[in-house]
Amino acid sequence: MLDIAGGSGALSTTVCHAQPHIAAAIVELPEVAPHTRALLDEQPGGSTIEVIAGDAIAGPLPGNFDLAVMRCFLQLFGPEDIVTALRTARTALAPSGQLAIIGYCLTDDEAGPALALGADLLFLNYYAAGAAYRLADYRAWLKQAGYAEPRLALLGGGMSLLIAKRA
Ligand SMILES: C[S@@+](CC[C@H](N)C(=O)[O-])C[C@H]1O[C@@H](n2cnc3c(N)ncnc32)[C@H](O)[C@@H]1O
Repeated sequence: MLDIAGGSGALSTTVCHAQPHIAAAIVELPEVAPHTRALLDEQPGGSTIEVIAGDAIAGPLPGNFDLAVMRCFLQLFGPEDIVTALRTARTALAPSGQLAIIGYCLTDDEAGPALALGADLLFLNYYAAGAAYRLADYRAWLKQAGYAEPRLALLGGGMSLLIAKRA
């Protein structure tokens, strides 16, 4: 599994703890990667997770992962960078690989869920081009970037999980 923009490594450590057969690597910006490494090394089992310094938008990323995960990442950017990031993630996947996007998504009428609306305000204030986008936007960007059959699950805390196959 490649945890794209994995930050503190919380997602990867949780997944590897729950499913020890999964090998995880995290890609983070070069200035952040040493902090990710240090935080992981403090966690039980964290030292088995590889940290790769890189840019998940510009790439290149190492390849052939079964699963790439982006949690609370795409929301930092505008549509153009999002499609580029999705294309870059695709290069990291094995031919049968899948991409999971976890984050706050708005319904297509932009009326909710309430927590995603709150997150939208946060992203608009925090990031130069960030926002909570609609599910329809993610589906269109995934198609544009070479993914198929997106499936949606609603997670706790107002978050969504979109999983798509590399087309
Ligand atoms: C909101 S945090 C989410 C961290 C983690 N995915 C999580 O859910 O806890 C966004 C992360 O994206 C990373 N990031 C931003 N731009 C990036 C890029 N171009 N390439 C790789 N990582 C990037 C930041 O360093 C930060 O750790």
